[in-house]
Amino acid sequence: MTTPSTNIPGPTGLPLLGSMLDLKRDSLGTYLNAHREHGDIVRFTAGPPGLRVELYAVFSAEGAQQVLATDSANFRKDNAFYQEVRESFGNGLLTSQDEDYLRQRRLVQPLFTRRRVDGYAQAVTGETASLLASWRDAPDATVDVVDEMTRLTLRAVARILFGVDVEAAVDVVERCFPVIGNYTLQRGYSPVNPPRNWPTPANRKAASAMDELYAVCDRIIEKRRADGDSATGDDLLTLLAQAESAEDGSLDASEIRDQVLVFLLAGHETTATSLAFALHLLARHPEHQARARDEAVRVLSGRTPEAYDLDALPYLTQVLKEAMRLYPAGPVIGRQTVAAAEIGGHTIPAGKDVIVAPWVTHRHPRYWEEPERFDPERFTPELEKERPRYAWFPFGGGPRACIGQHFSMLESVLALSMILRAYELEAVDLDVPVDTGITLRAAGPARCRLRPLDKEGEGNVPNG
Ligand code: HEM
Repeated sequence: MTTPSTNIPGPTGLPLLGSMLDLKRDSLGTYLNAHREHGDIVRFTAGPPGLRVELYAVFSAEGAQQVLATDSANFRKDNAFYQEVRESFGNGLLTSQDEDYLRQRRLVQPLFTRRRVDGYAQAVTGETASLLASWRDAPDATVDVVDEMTRLTLRAVARILFGVDVEAAVDVVERCFPVIGNYTLQRGYSPVNPPRNWPTPANRKAASAMDELYAVCDRIIEKRRADGDSATGDDLLTLLAQAESAEDGSLDASEIRDQVLVFLLAGHETTATSLAFALHLLARHPEHQARARDEAVRVLSGRTPEAYDLDALPYLTQVLKEAMRLYPAGPVIGRQTVAAAEIGGHTIPAGKDVIVAPWVTHRHPRYWEEPERFDPERFTPELEKERPRYAWFPFGGGPRACIGQHFSMLESVLALSMILRAYELEAVDLDVPVDTGITLRAAGPARCRLRPLDKEGEGNVPNG
């Protein structure tokens, strides 16, 4: 047996700062270049002397599987990024660990069974119908699909969470989330941060956004808890408030708020990104758009789609999977090693930051031919079976895999089917640059021109 090497290759970067500026300016491009130049495991150094940190990137499917699944206990969410997310958005299912996490997952999992999630379809189709109706008045018959999909997915997740109280929450979330998100991100990637309780302008602005966001959640939660067993709604919040087991008891008010914040955080911009890029890609590839529309029209004719239609829309599902390959909403997933880890013949020392990167693995030439080409045919069941399990992992994997993946696929496919049936899309912006916030975001406009389809033709525009 050969001794694993600790001498992991990587860019030298600038003499004093290492790769800090490259990672800050264009982290995704920096990872792709590093993969091309140094291979499947790369060591970066970043930051000035004295504060210099090391970051290890693992780009192979097998390495991603080891980090997220087979050796997951040795790769914890102890990194600075997750610590900041925890402080901003609470210790909910995305961020908690150990006993807290296991208890929360046991209580929350029953709310995400397939049967339960299928029950959320109506909220999605109702919101999509309103959105499509509003497009009839779009100036120049043009919409920015990122803005539109962000509005749609926020309203859909807020309706599922808050039921009748959706309006009270949407406005506050729209205003406060970007402020808190940017602040969290800045701190997560900065080598030093002033304590959160110092009265700096950034701290104060974020604290006030957090106060406002927490307050609206708390008000709605209080209302549900006051209703107690007499609550008749079946929104997620009522179910969270009622969730209990002999072993785990129930969630208290602040734990419920933490889950709500996590669902809002993890469940809105992510699906918006997938849907927006699916639309953008279809708008650029009319032949794939026509095929996707044919399927939607054939399966649904004029009726509103329902959850059971998902299985009958395989091409739309392939389109979404391919959009998530090219634009994974979580392009990079971070962990920290507990003990030294041996991966692909190298040793990553204990206590180091590690990332796996769907953004890079989804373009790895070993698994994907002509990786930059949009081709939904890659996701036929036969071709999917031939690939390593972690060649495609937009929802993460292992014990901390996304709890919302079925919901997200359901929401996206149903919304896409309704949009394509009602409108033909033509891309105005051919190239949409991206940026990494807490999730992947478009960094420029993603406009599409809309052509309503007539009733005899392939679809119909809903009437308000
Ligand atoms: C396209 C849409 C989505 C993508 C790409 C996505 C991606 C991910 C990824 C990569 C993780 C793992 C993070 C890690 O390992 O560090 C994750 C976890 C999670 N996601 Fe999603 N997500 C999506 C939609 C949703 C939705 C709609 C919800 C909820 C309504 C949701 C809730 C969660 C939660 C609660 C976790 C933590 C699960 C756990 O640790 O047990 N996500 N998601």
